[in-house]
Amino acid sequence: MTDVVSPTAATSGASATERFQERAKAAATTGAARVNAIASDALAALHEVVRKHQVTYDEYNAFKAWLIRVGEDGEWPLFLDVFLEHEVEKVANATRQGTVGSIEGPYYVEGAPELGSEGTLPMRDGEAGRPLRFFGQVRAVTGEPLAGSVVDFWQADDDGLYSQFAPGIPEWNLRGRATTDAEGNFSITTIHPAPYQIPTDGATGALIAAAGWHAWRPAHLHIKVSSPGYQLITTQLYFDGGEHVADDIATAVKDDLILAPTPTDDGSGEQVRYDFVLDPA
Ligand code: DHB
Ligand code: FE
Repeated sequence: MTDVVSPTAATSGASATERFQERAKAAATTGAARVNAIASDALAALHEVVRKHQVTYDEYNAFKAWLIRVGEDGEWPLFLDVFLEHEVEKVANATRQGTVGSIEGPYYVEGAPELGSEGTLPMRDGEAGRPLRFFGQVRAVTGEPLAGSVVDFWQADDDGLYSQFAPGIPEWNLRGRATTDAEGNFSITTIHPAPYQIPTDGATGALIAAAGWHAWRPAHLHIKVSSPGYQLITTQLYFDGGEHVADDIATAVKDDLILAPTPTDDGSGEQVRYDFVLDPA
């Protein structure tokens, strides 16, 4: 008998919480005036919802129980990155001239294997999914190529699952860092990822079901591009015509981030170019 490890919200969510806590920096040094302004307005927004919808005690208690369950399931990173991060990202990147950003989400891990300027992401023998070559150049907004830039790349597999978070996937699967060559170029061979479904068996899934929403993000590639003297950009790339590109549950698709791969000459897969443009630090 084989042991089938099925990914659950408890595992992906709890791994994301652990990972977040490891990475979280020392407590933010936000002053009282700003904490007061933000916390007061956040509470006022909730008070307005209670008045507008005449929220009952039953609903208030269901809300409390649900909040407790989000924590028990370890799903705060997952919930917040799906439903709130997109607005924080817009504020953070509002003045950039170069490549537009998108949300980081809960599944980034620092220290992925190095690939050189051209490489293949770590993957299992016979990794499911259509082969994809993703290549391009990193440049400054002023146009000069940026040699030695790091293109840090992570994605879900053909089942929409991330290594190091869902069980049963080898460490670093479909994660890697390319470094651009003297002309600022890189090339990464991978597989076309599948759409990602928010785990349905935890608190976030329960809210999605109770509200009658769908739980899908379109297929996407995650990228962080960095170069000394430039602002790091965290973004995602999507696929033209892909399912849920027009109704991403995480509201993280932007027109400038949609790829249209073409078949490779030998018909074995697809390829697409995308250039990254960095703003000075
Ligand atoms: C979530 C998952 C993702 O893969 C992503 O890119 C953004 C958010 C999430 O489940 O929160
Ligand atoms: Fe993702």
